[in-house]
Amino acid sequence: MSAEGTREPGLRSVGSYCSITDEDDLNLLRHLDKAKLKIERKRSFDERSMSDMSISNIRGTDYPDGVHSPGPHRSGFNTPNSGIWHHFDTHPMVADAWDALRKSTVYFRGQPLGTLAAIDHAAEEVLNYDQVFVRDFVPSALSFLMNGEHDIVRNFLLKTLLLQGWEKKIDRFKLGEGAMPASFKVLHDPVRKTETLIADFGESAIGRVAPVDSGFWWIILLRAYTKATGDSSLAETSECQKGIRLILSLCLSEGFDTFPTLLCADGCSMIDRRMGVYGYPIEIQALFFMALRSALALLKGDAEGKEFMERIVKRLHALSFHMRSYFWLDFQQLNDIYRYKTEEYSHTAVNKFNVIPDSIPDWIFDFMPKKGGYFVGNVSPARMDFRWFALGNCVAILSSLATPEQATAVMDLIEARWEELVGEMPLKICYPAIEGHEWRIVTGCDPKNTRWSYHNGGSWPVLLWLLTAACIKTGRPQIARRAIELTESRLQRDGWPEYYDGKLGRFVGKQARKLQTWSIAGYLVAKMLLEDPSHLGMISLEEDKDMKPTMKRSSSWTC
Ligand code: GLC
Repeated sequence: MSAEGTREPGLRSVGSYCSITDEDDLNLLRHLDKAKLKIERKRSFDERSMSDMSISNIRGTDYPDGVHSPGPHRSGFNTPNSGIWHHFDTHPMVADAWDALRKSTVYFRGQPLGTLAAIDHAAEEVLNYDQVFVRDFVPSALSFLMNGEHDIVRNFLLKTLLLQGWEKKIDRFKLGEGAMPASFKVLHDPVRKTETLIADFGESAIGRVAPVDSGFWWIILLRAYTKATGDSSLAETSECQKGIRLILSLCLSEGFDTFPTLLCADGCSMIDRRMGVYGYPIEIQALFFMALRSALALLKGDAEGKEFMERIVKRLHALSFHMRSYFWLDFQQLNDIYRYKTEEYSHTAVNKFNVIPDSIPDWIFDFMPKKGGYFVGNVSPARMDFRWFALGNCVAILSSLATPEQATAVMDLIEARWEELVGEMPLKICYPAIEGHEWRIVTGCDPKNTRWSYHNGGSWPVLLWLLTAACIKTGRPQIARRAIELTESRLQRDGWPEYYDGKLGRFVGKQARKLQTWSIAGYLVAKMLLEDPSHLGMISLEEDKDMKPTMKRSSSWTC
């Protein structure tokens, strides 16, 4: 990277290293002070632009014993650095989790800035687990926000925005201006007594994969911060507004696409290795949808903002129709595909993408329950990936990409296929695993992604927070409670591993890091959400009635 190419005048970058000058820090501090003042004044947040939190369906929820109904307070726990204390059904694991989360905190020039991916000192290779990953920080950030600790999240949002401003190059190829890093690291120079940042936009990552999800998570987190603090001044700064627009410019540009979904390379999200998720993966489409809706709530109505808002609204309409119609699978839809004719030409085609019924995998016929459904992994010409992906389906529920009926059907499926999807450790990242010849072709013989391990059907405790949030949104907290209990029987005892292996998720993952921060934070978020469901508003958007599909697919939508 060359210094001339950087957008921010105060940034100096050499290679992938960058130091942030005092001038930048002063600017950053100015924002912090302004934002702090606003919070102290407890300025009420404009609910008109963010009226997307539904408490009504939460309040009516039948809570099982031991789970407190929503109270007026934000939840907090007795932790070494936090004075806030409300009494809840505190499991002994909670205090340990807070301890571990705090130990993972990274500081930059005396300010908390993020959390390390893992602090496993016993691991043979550190790789990049000693970095702050954007996606990994999301559950940490939510934990802090739910506990009333806003500074670390504000610092993170502002610093990553500065990183976005770097010129990003892989070999001789320049990445889009809006790209957000996958991860970054603080380097301390004890001799010169300086601290610098190093960021990875995919140029160092294994396989050189671009993190398409980072920018989406950044927007989603900015909205969560705004909701949690009730302070919109940070989001309204010209820097944040520009950051949002730059991220969206990357995805809203016109091209050759015939679909409103976003075309992606393999490994561009949480599943950051080759796993056959290239094309239009649900994991990205659901985040894309949620980021678009969040951006709509955050963008200001000035000339530039308005132009983007119009583009977003158009895209949201097309995207929700496409996803709800073509990615949705239930018993009826499966039966329809099974009977599809092929080679249909023209507008009257029923089998629009020319899916060949012979390509339907055998497992799906047993897996699909009578009641229930889900968004499949991918849809593109003559290719349907029937695998179930946890993150995409949960985010579809949280963003209201799923209609209320579809959201209920996803929860029905999870209940009906509990053993397969939850097993002994929540939650399978995807189902089922691929093996044998298919594994060889799809993963490129990846030894880390062997069947029922890691990204290939492994179980990831971090997904617990997404499941819990989806359960609360659909009024099914008892499902989350069951999942949390499973976690509590092992997670701490096993040292907070990154993932579990096996069909039931019984074994600590082959190469799983211990003290994996998002496993810890995911548990805390799940606990706090159940104890005070009013937190759900931070990461959930209400259904937008204007986006109702005009086309009905099958019975599971209406049950
Ligand atoms: C692995 C995961 C990725 C995560 C990173 C840091 O690469 O696949 O999702 O962000 O570890 O924990």
